Amino acid sequence: MRVKIVASEQVMGCEAAKIVQDEVARNPKAVLMLPTGGTPEAMYEHLARAYSQGRVTFARVTTFNLDEYVGLSVEHPQSYHCYMQDRFFCHVDLPPINAHLLDGNAANLAKECRDFEQKIAEAGGVDLAVLGLGRNAHIAFNEPPANLTSRTHVAMLTESTRQANARFFGGTGDVPCRALTAGIATIIDCRKILVLACGIQKAEAVARAIERPVSAMCPASALQVHHKVTFLVDEAAASCLHFKSNYRYLEQARRSLEVGR
Ligand code: PGA
Repeated sequence: MRVKIVASEQVMGCEAAKIVQDEVARNPKAVLMLPTGGTPEAMYEHLARAYSQGRVTFARVTTFNLDEYVGLSVEHPQSYHCYMQDRFFCHVDLPPINAHLLDGNAANLAKECRDFEQKIAEAGGVDLAVLGLGRNAHIAFNEPPANLTSRTHVAMLTESTRQANARFFGGTGDVPCRALTAGIATIIDCRKILVLACGIQKAEAVARAIERPVSAMCPASALQVHHKVTFLVDEAAASCLHFKSNYRYLEQARRSLEVGR
């Protein structure tokens, strides 16, 4: 597991965008799994800028989104359909047919989840997943206690997640109680994983995910078993890590090896 600590949320967004751009440069037909929420906003801004400056094209890229609320219309300003349209899709050349989001209004939610897994398989699996991290250490909407072997499913949101997301709605009462979400196993199957976290309110979750044992009570800890995971966190989110100096040392060593190549 690689842990990269950066100065600020803006730097995190810029570095995350670079990782996505590098992936797409290496493989123009890359399959990406994408997050929503406050954390990745800076990344999407940087990606939109990179596209407008001709530094990246998404013309052959395929995307899947990690999750969507159940019961919000796609036009609802807080639906993740709307979020992705506003923050990313409308700024870049990704063909709409290549963008896959779970339909939280599907008549048969279980079938919607199965179809989502099927589409990922048909796309050849996901090359790079970008994840946010919940204050309770959820990834996508896999809330604790999480089934660490889950595939895409209908999830009940915890009170703490609904409170955390109340800032985007009128209040906690307006936040939907359920969501469709990629499962932990769906995420673990992705070939590379980038986890983003910023702010002091994520510090404990970051430390538990990276430095404590794998546990259903800490869904993000399941990522410890993946062979290509990077945590990209700002100073505040890194503040509860015990081995910060080790991570910095390893990053420095990695950089000097890259320079020497
Ligand atoms: P946030 O949410 O980026 O809005 O903090 C992250 C998450 O809940 O996964």
